[in-house]
Amino acid sequence: MYKKIDEHALPVHIGIIMDGNGRWAKKRMLPRLLGHRAGVDALKRVTEAAQKIGIKVMSYFAFSTENWKRSKEEVDGIFDLVLTHLKENYDRFVNGKTKIMTMGDISKLPKELYELLLDVTEKTKHNTEFIVNIALNYGSRSELARAFTNLAKKGKVEITEDDIKSELYTSELPDPDLIIRTSGEMRLSNFMLFQSAYSELYFPKIHWPDFDEKHLRKAIIEYQSRDRRFGNVKQEKNK
Ligand code: FPP
Repeated sequence: MYKKIDEHALPVHIGIIMDGNGRWAKKRMLPRLLGHRAGVDALKRVTEAAQKIGIKVMSYFAFSTENWKRSKEEVDGIFDLVLTHLKENYDRFVNGKTKIMTMGDISKLPKELYELLLDVTEKTKHNTEFIVNIALNYGSRSELARAFTNLAKKGKVEITEDDIKSELYTSELPDPDLIIRTSGEMRLSNFMLFQSAYSELYFPKIHWPDFDEKHLRKAIIEYQSRDRRFGNVKQEKNK
């Protein structure tokens, strides 16, 4: 029998490391870029499912500061996919109820993509119902270095955790409750290292392009079976 999601204990924020596009393509003897294209379809599918389930924030790792090491063809191809997706859905995005935001140094992306991202994020910034946060040219260590630099520039000497949080790209977001990395790799690879201090981690073996609503539901059910203590001891119900 299938377990059901407890609607009252949903994760508010889910982070996803979309891994395995290359392996998915290789298995089918397709070029890697077709794996990334199928990855965009998965992103759309999973975002719609998450919104339907009642998740408030979805963060996706789309391009890391380390991904520049890949071939120019693959890097350009990934940016092209993001650009095409934004252009194709532009009207839906800017007239919709979803806030689209980015994290990472997007100023280093191709100019047309950079400007479109600025436009879409500006036009959707007042939406609060549902947030999609895309990590592009993002690395958690450089995010932290940037935060400390900003604090130093403000003359901060005694730095609190809240000071650091306030300078992260995610300052307005709650920390991720659940981080999913597909494809069986069990590491965070520079994704939200500060924000993930108490995140539950989930590593399904499936490649990202195959991930769908039922896998998302399974991840949430697994999350709900975990005992989140945040450093505290287990709370007995009748004590
Ligand atoms: C990891 O798989 C995936 C990436 C580095 C890129 C993911 C990017 C997208 C799906 C595009 C995002 C699109 C939008 C609209 C934001 P991999 O290539 O590392 O797979 P492998 O480990 O099997 O080689």
